[in-house]
Amino acid sequence: MMAAGGAVPLLAANAFDAPAQNGATLAQAAAHNGRVYGAAVRIRRIDAEQDYRQAVVQECALLVPEYEMNWNEIEPAYGQLSFDRIDALVDFATDQGKKLRGHVLFWHLGVPEWASAMLRERRDWGLVNHYVGFVMTRYRDLVHQWTVVNEAIDPGQRSDGLRNSIYLEAFGPGYIHRAFTLARGLAPNGLLLLSDYGLEYDNAEQRARRYYFLKLIERLKGAGTPLDCIGLQGHLDLRLGQVSAPAIAAFLRELNDMNLPVMVTELDVKESQYVASAQERDRMVADETRRYLDAVLSHGRCLGVTTWGLSDRHSWIIEITPQDYARFPGAWKNGESPGINRGLPLSWEMKPKPMYFALRDALWRIRLRR
Ligand code: G3I
Repeated sequence: MMAAGGAVPLLAANAFDAPAQNGATLAQAAAHNGRVYGAAVRIRRIDAEQDYRQAVVQECALLVPEYEMNWNEIEPAYGQLSFDRIDALVDFATDQGKKLRGHVLFWHLGVPEWASAMLRERRDWGLVNHYVGFVMTRYRDLVHQWTVVNEAIDPGQRSDGLRNSIYLEAFGPGYIHRAFTLARGLAPNGLLLLSDYGLEYDNAEQRARRYYFLKLIERLKGAGTPLDCIGLQGHLDLRLGQVSAPAIAAFLRELNDMNLPVMVTELDVKESQYVASAQERDRMVADETRRYLDAVLSHGRCLGVTTWGLSDRHSWIIEITPQDYARFPGAWKNGESPGINRGLPLSWEMKPKPMYFALRDALWRIRLRR
């Protein structure tokens, strides 16, 4: 059970024989079935908030830089590379014995403006090689897996369902194969991921996303692209109803047929009933988490789960429009208020919420498909 102060007691060596309710951490529950659990983190918050730092060390076996490795963070101006923040995060992870996911190499929202302009003008792969080469060479011995290409799909833009990113504009659809080939050459031992979002619900948009994503994956596998794993971002959204277990299962069967494992890479839950009680809100978040993980862990060969953040205190999902301030007068206190989305495993105060136990139970209970 939870120790005072929310710290989950570390288990004795033979604890994995005991049921999860004996207090396994998320990392231990994942390892129980040969998976890894982790979270996206920001190094400045780890340095500034001792309770958060302790929770990260306690619960996570893998860390993902939330944005510190993005091209626009590392090279905001041409040739002015700064690795300070990402070095600090990598050093923290290494010191604490954590695995790392290099996030993110090719992502349309991670490109600095100067690079977009230069790519549009010159269509020079050497420019891409410059950034990716710097990052992968610097960290390849410390980073266990890489989000090589993120969010390549955007139905409605092209007949192949690909997003008209600056990479596609500059290099054509072949940029994805080139990206993975470059990554394999720079980090031969890294697990290379292709990741996307909007794959969980049974609606027209997400049916299209699953269709085009599978078509892209089939093309890449057919071309011999060195693609190792599919990243399912897993940004769940209670405004869309409940995740569709049959749709997820059918999608994962296609990946199993291509012998492709998956990872849930950015799990969190966007609420829809911000003015319900915290207990009711937490129950809805936990139920959706359970439905989703039951489907993914049962039907896919899921190597691990990373949540996009660990605590509601740091969620990227926040309701801060003026209309929301008006709707929720006096909001934005701690996580109890309507203004803070309660879609991550730990509360504002770093206490496990029902989502934590839904996640831990699924990781512990569901065996890894071989
Ligand atoms: O920390 C600086 C602050 O010092 C500065 O004053 C401020 C204004 O420039 O920027 C702050 O950094 C921002 C950071 O979030 C922290 O707020 C970055 O500019 C901003 O780019 C960053 O946004 C991140 C976003 O990706 C874009 O990189 C979010 O944290 C992050 O949660 C989000 O994550 C994405 C995944 O990479 C891909 N999937 C979707 C997911 C959510 O959008």
